[in-house]
Amino acid sequence: MRAPYRVGLIGLGNVGGALARRLVDDADRIADTSGRPIVLEAIAVAHRDGRSAPAPLVSAEALLKRPNLDAVIELMGGLEPAHTYIYTALQSGRQVITANKQLIAASGPELCRLGPLRFEASVASAIPIVETLAETMASDRITSLVGILNGTTNSILEAMAQGASYADALVDAQRRGLAEADPSADVDAHDPAAKLAILAMLAFRRRIEPSQIERVGIGGLDQTELLGARQRGFVVKLIAAATVSNGVSIEADVRPRLIPNDAPMARVAGAMNAIAVEAAHAGTLTLQGPGAGPDAAASAVLADLVRAARDMPASAGALLASLADQPAARITPLGLRTPYPAAT
Ligand SMILES: NC(=O)c1ccc[n+]([C@@H]2O[C@H](COP(=O)([O-])OP(=O)(O)OC[C@H]3O[C@@H](n4cnc5c(N)ncnc54)[C@H](OP(=O)(O)O)[C@@H]3O)[C@@H](O)[C@H]2O)c1
Repeated sequence: MRAPYRVGLIGLGNVGGALARRLVDDADRIADTSGRPIVLEAIAVAHRDGRSAPAPLVSAEALLKRPNLDAVIELMGGLEPAHTYIYTALQSGRQVITANKQLIAASGPELCRLGPLRFEASVASAIPIVETLAETMASDRITSLVGILNGTTNSILEAMAQGASYADALVDAQRRGLAEADPSADVDAHDPAAKLAILAMLAFRRRIEPSQIERVGIGGLDQTELLGARQRGFVVKLIAAATVSNGVSIEADVRPRLIPNDAPMARVAGAMNAIAVEAAHAGTLTLQGPGAGPDAAASAVLADLVRAARDMPASAGALLASLADQPAARITPLGLRTPYPAAT
């Protein structure tokens, strides 16, 4: 077996905690898969006092100065200081793994140019879509992506279709830990727009600026619209969709859409996510699974970590790096015209 792979973890919250548990509980299986033991050398958190952890707790700055780390895993979220920490780790020759969709959507191409940066968990958690687009489907020509990329809004819409008001459904989602105290990233569709930007960059090989993607959130919906849709044989889903024609013109948006009851996307329930990819040669593929939750996200982070320990290429990162010098693509909204893309 090869020498241990030494890892520093920034963030021991929902996802970082789940990852740390996996690294301890499944250590033998992970070592078998990686061809070497993976050793958690240090963990950085914001509040260290009185906590126990499976590795020494340090500040992020101290962690980044440790000389013997092979990889740094960023699971703190937000733009800064996460950007500075990832930048520093890549500059010092470490592999970096993150679940930070906001940061990858905004600065992925520049950061990926600095070194191997992996981000499978940044879109749809456990669904292996990032490396699938960048590696498995790399030689195909992808023409559209359609997805339910936000489990929180999917759960709220489901409750509204049963008759709950938007306000009650939101409060219930917050009570169940699905929605945050400030739910705007979800209900105003910033979160699925960032994820769609990442997927569209990988699928269409064009630089996408997330703010260029038109967003219509779910806050303006009324439960009577959802009940009425249900009576007519439709469900309302927050759909993130993007198409490219002639390899040039990109149309994309995130908005509530009416989906026929018998369509695959209509059956995506609760906090599940789904993504349909239409490719010129492979045809239409639909991937569905848990799109949120600590264990689901940690499983995708661990997949990246194992790839890093096995010295596999960071394919999605290399693809984003190749876009760093491109100007941002012009994006027009798909709007409500029909037909709109695949698999709904
Ligand atoms: N939760 C999910 O289901 C999910 C799914 C997919 C992707 N993600 C992404 O995963 C990332 C982490 O999410 P999460 O839900 O695990 O967040 P979280 O529970 O809020 O945890 C954040 C962690 O970061 C630490 N932290 C914050 N500022 C820090 C600093 N300056 N230096 C060192 N540590 C710092 C916090 O320390 P303290 O513990 O001391 O406060 C905490 O341990 C985010 O990018 C998120 O978008 C989450």
